[in-house]
Amino acid sequence: MLKKLNIMVLALAIVFAISACSAKGDAAKGKVIYVENCEICHGNAGKGDGAASAVLNPKPTDFTNTALMSKRTANDLFKVVTKGVPNTGMAPYEKMLSEKERWDVVAYIRTFAQKARSSAKGDAAKEDDERFIFSDLTVKDKETRLIWTRDANIADKEMTWKDAFKFVKKLNKQKYAGYSDWRLPTIEELKTLTHYAKGQGNKGYYNDLFNKIGFRNVEAYSYWSSSAYDGSTAYAWIVFMVAGHVDGLNKTFTSYVWPVRGGK
Ligand code: HEC
Repeated sequence: MLKKLNIMVLALAIVFAISACSAKGDAAKGKVIYVENCEICHGNAGKGDGAASAVLNPKPTDFTNTALMSKRTANDLFKVVTKGVPNTGMAPYEKMLSEKERWDVVAYIRTFAQKARSSAKGDAAKEDDERFIFSDLTVKDKETRLIWTRDANIADKEMTWKDAFKFVKKLNKQKYAGYSDWRLPTIEELKTLTHYAKGQGNKGYYNDLFNKIGFRNVEAYSYWSSSAYDGSTAYAWIVFMVAGHVDGLNKTFTSYVWPVRGGK
């Protein structure tokens, strides 16, 4: 029992270490660097209205501009801070700040848009810009790096588990959206979507949320996963895109198919 507990603690420690790494940069430390180096132009609240901004053309970037900032990854910002923007007031900080300090300040400037976004309460669409990148036929989840088809019911019908595989194979043959590595998602991959919807404070009808933010034809019904249900060969896991309920379904029954590709 004690041994088991130790393993649990170790596993938790690893999970925390990984999430700390992927967050890259310490916003609290970044704030100190920001106040010393950046505030004069970008302003105390990150609005691009610092004391020196009046004489600058172009004006310093407004970090509370959520539409702009949602297009910028941490890497993009890091690059600008490192290399500067030629012929503007934005100098390269490669020599003035260490790599660690540049990541810290990037973590801090990203908090301005996060704050602006959460104060624009109730506007779910804005939150979603942050997590998903919508293209014509595909949607990239920035968090999981999975690429989903934008249309969550391309087949326009439910089908058996076997037919679901056949359908995905057909998509690959057709190079749907230019790719030939579409697959049926695992149960864990489907759950990343329902967890997201739940995290948005939705109590149900996740399909409505997904359709509202830019997906198409997300059905208020069950979706097939590729995962075997409790080691059974006759059943596979399904997820209801209504409120995230998961269950095992006999493979000869029917569900919808939402293909995915990529991932971490
Ligand atoms: C002398 C004024 C000045 C200072 C000081 C300054 N910046 Fe800038 N910064 C600018 C200007 C002007 C721009 C806009 C450049 C443009 O429009 O292309 C900019 C743009 C940026 C961008 C690009 C945003 C985007 O569009 O992707 C980032 C990131 C940035 N600054 C971060 C910082 C950080 C971090 C610091 C402090 C370490 C800092 N800046 C200090 C003037 C300044």
